[in-house]
Amino acid sequence: MNNAGIIGMGHAYPSGVLTNADLERIVDTSDEWIQTRTGIKQRHKAAEGEYTSQFGTKAAQQALDKAGLNAEDIEIIVCATTTPDQIMPSTGALIQAQIGATNAAGMDVFATCSGFLYGITMVESMIRTGQIKHALVIGAEVLTKYVDYTDRSTCVIFSDGAGAAVLAPVEAGKGILATKIRSDGRFEEHLYAPGGGTKLGTTYATIDNRDHFFKMKGNELFKIAVRSMAEISKEMLDKAGYTIADVDLVIPHQANQRITDAVASRLNIPEEKIFSNIAEHGNTSSASIPIAIDECLQSGKIKQGDLVLLTAFGGGVTWGATLIRF
Ligand code: ACO
Repeated sequence: MNNAGIIGMGHAYPSGVLTNADLERIVDTSDEWIQTRTGIKQRHKAAEGEYTSQFGTKAAQQALDKAGLNAEDIEIIVCATTTPDQIMPSTGALIQAQIGATNAAGMDVFATCSGFLYGITMVESMIRTGQIKHALVIGAEVLTKYVDYTDRSTCVIFSDGAGAAVLAPVEAGKGILATKIRSDGRFEEHLYAPGGGTKLGTTYATIDNRDHFFKMKGNELFKIAVRSMAEISKEMLDKAGYTIADVDLVIPHQANQRITDAVASRLNIPEEKIFSNIAEHGNTSSASIPIAIDECLQSGKIKQGDLVLLTAFGGGVTWGATLIRF
């Protein structure tokens, strides 16, 4: 059996940017509040007419180029997204068409900010058991179209972008060494967008109630996020026979700088071993981890042989951790 590893990465953002100063003109907030409470200085914002699969496609094409593969080599495309282009067909299938991956099955994983870890957990076992050889896992979001710009607690956080990874068999000792995902739907209302589905549908009332936008209990989520990411990271490392001291770099979902700091403190790791790019990019949900991995590979922060711990938490609630040797 072969380990599955990442052999190519890519990422993309819309060119539009929303700074804290821009938000000061939209809601009752301040640059000082946003930076102190979230660490965010700016976020990316898709323009009218821009949509999720476009960014997923750009990231996927870059990942294929880095991996030295053609789109026809890909057998499965898993697109993690909370903000699909439309309810059907899946954004994975739409990206499949845009890159020309004619031999693949395209699908979506709906697991909010943990979606990329859900995706690589699914394809990892397919590659390890030899069922498939090449997979694309993409995290792609245009969250700003689901953001209520009258709600100052959510509109300062969410951003847009996409990251993609090509996974393939790699040499023994490298690639995904352990991975674990979890969810708890009892916390549905901590972060949800109730309108538009089969429960409430789309009516004048759901539009009046702003039910198609994200509604979030940020404070409650904050505490569960910190606890869940720290616990699942420790459980996964334990089970795989590693300790946190073995890890060269932790890449957490970029939800909030204070969450990242609290996870670092719970895991007892120094600041330089936990990655953050939230100041410049905001919270891009399922895209935040693949974007961060690609940035770290490009800047040399992740070197060949490094042991990297990924951990995520999102609405649902969902959470997970993955350990990769590059
Ligand atoms: N500007 C100014 N004041 C604000 C703002 C703002 N943008 N937003 C909230 N406030 C106010 C509140 O109204 C409140 O005022 P009050 O005390 O007068 O009532 C005060 O600030 C404190 O509010 P809290 O909600 O307690 O603020 P907190 O420090 O928790 O920060 C935040 C809010 C940033 C949302 C934080 O809770 C957070 O990041 N939570 C986690 C988000 C998360 O992880 N989500 C899941 C992952 S994302 C995904 O799944 C797609």
